Amino acid sequence: MENNTAPWSQLEAAAAAALSKAYAPYSKFRVGAAALTTEGRLISGCNIENAAYGVTLCAECAMVGELFAGGGGKLQYFLCLGQLEDGAVALITPCGRCRQLLFEHRAPGMEVQTDTGVLSMEQLLPYAFGPNDISL
Ligand code: THU
Repeated sequence: MENNTAPWSQLEAAAAAALSKAYAPYSKFRVGAAALTTEGRLISGCNIENAAYGVTLCAECAMVGELFAGGGGKLQYFLCLGQLEDGAVALITPCGRCRQLLFEHRAPGMEVQTDTGVLSMEQLLPYAFGPNDISL
């Protein structure tokens, strides 16, 4: 971003809007993920649960679907919000599977906002298996 201004408030608003659309009747834990691509495109997604619990789609999965539905790209900034049943909203760090998803589609230097500050994907998923490991 220009002027060194990271778009965290914009991403928080997008993630909050996304989590309000979550389908989470089982865990009752709503999640909204939002990212800005290197091209400045804002994408978001919510979690979509299933009666077969293991089939649940995390918010990040839906967000990556939107990334590709809109033409693809690389993620520059990302954050994820979770909402408890009592309404309390907080930043969450992505689950392990979603760290792998984010690793694949990250731009170099992608920043992830967490409750302990901004982290890199390399910090969130050290020693990651990625495209390089299969010579892509
Ligand atoms: N969840 C996400 O959407 N993203 C994460 O990174 C962590 C977990 C969802 C899955 C499930 O619907 C609910 O949160 C409780 O685990």
